[in-house]
Amino acid sequence: KSKSKKLAKQATKKISRAGVIGAGIMGGGIAYQSAVKGVPVVMKDIKQEALDLGLTEATNILTKSLKRGRISAKKVTGTLNKITTTMHNNELENVDIVVEAVVESPKVKTAVLSQIEKVVPEDTIITSNTSTISIDRLAESLEHPEYFCGMHFFNPVHKMPLVEIIRGKRTSDETIATVTAYALQMGKTPIVVNDCPGFLVNRVLFPYFAGFSLLLDDGVDFPAIDKVMEKDFGWPMGPAYLCDVVGLDTATHASEVMAAGFPERMPHHAEGAIAKLAAADRFGQKNGKGFYQYGVDKRGKPT
Ligand code: NAI
Repeated sequence: KSKSKKLAKQATKKISRAGVIGAGIMGGGIAYQSAVKGVPVVMKDIKQEALDLGLTEATNILTKSLKRGRISAKKVTGTLNKITTTMHNNELENVDIVVEAVVESPKVKTAVLSQIEKVVPEDTIITSNTSTISIDRLAESLEHPEYFCGMHFFNPVHKMPLVEIIRGKRTSDETIATVTAYALQMGKTPIVVNDCPGFLVNRVLFPYFAGFSLLLDDGVDFPAIDKVMEKDFGWPMGPAYLCDVVGLDTATHASEVMAAGFPERMPHHAEGAIAKLAAADRFGQKNGKGFYQYGVDKRGKPT
């Protein structure tokens, strides 16, 4: 953390207003975290229902904190007032930083990134919350890759301290310093990592998911695997439950990126259980059904 603080001191630009594109599990969490730490945020999505859900999630987290006596009612309204929502890119034209958190698809992300670059001033920092896609690959869609890097939060954003800041080949030092400062401002623990598919954490996590999927092919029941990993091995959640938290659609897209990036190490498991469930519209907690069954249309919390 002290290394990050030293790096953040080199930032010359202060982040006073942020934009988040994509109001799903991650975008909603990132907007909440920015607002609760005092940085106003404009959240953009192509679906009104996603924006509504993102705001509901922020309200739920704040209400829980209020009930536990951790924050005041004033803090609740103050935080919610710092989040505005929109379905139009031009409402992001005055932000100092953009965090892109749309679906894990190179095609969608490159289109979204190049569109937003045309709307914001040249020196606005643009970041991607991609889980696995190489930053240099995404940067190819941009005119000014020096203002672009990865800013990879973890799920759930308000609880997980880590943020990977991914430096692309053409990312400037100033951009890295400013994004590090913003992550610290958000109360997070930033680490700067070099670019490659999956960065650091997901190079560990996705081979684990692939191993889990192969075990299912061998006929082992997923609840049995979860039980062993949780109760007996001591991890907070087993792989099936974790896949449901991440989102089976997101996990499938990310696995494809990892398999393409490391063909000799990561099996491409398009026929595996995770991909098959996603293809059957079982996306996990976000739509109430994944490996397990949850409350209908409830995101984040199993009933
Ligand atoms: P999600 O499926 O919950 O949300 C994606 C959102 O993007 C949806 O609300 C959708 O309407 C919106 N969207 C799609 N196309 C758009 C466009 N052109 N413009 C604006 N909004 C658009 O997905 P989630 O889980 O929030 O993932 C978002 C990103 O964060 C992905 O890149 C993912 O890999 C990454 N990520 C996901 C984590 C997880 O555990 N789910 C953890 C860390 C990163």
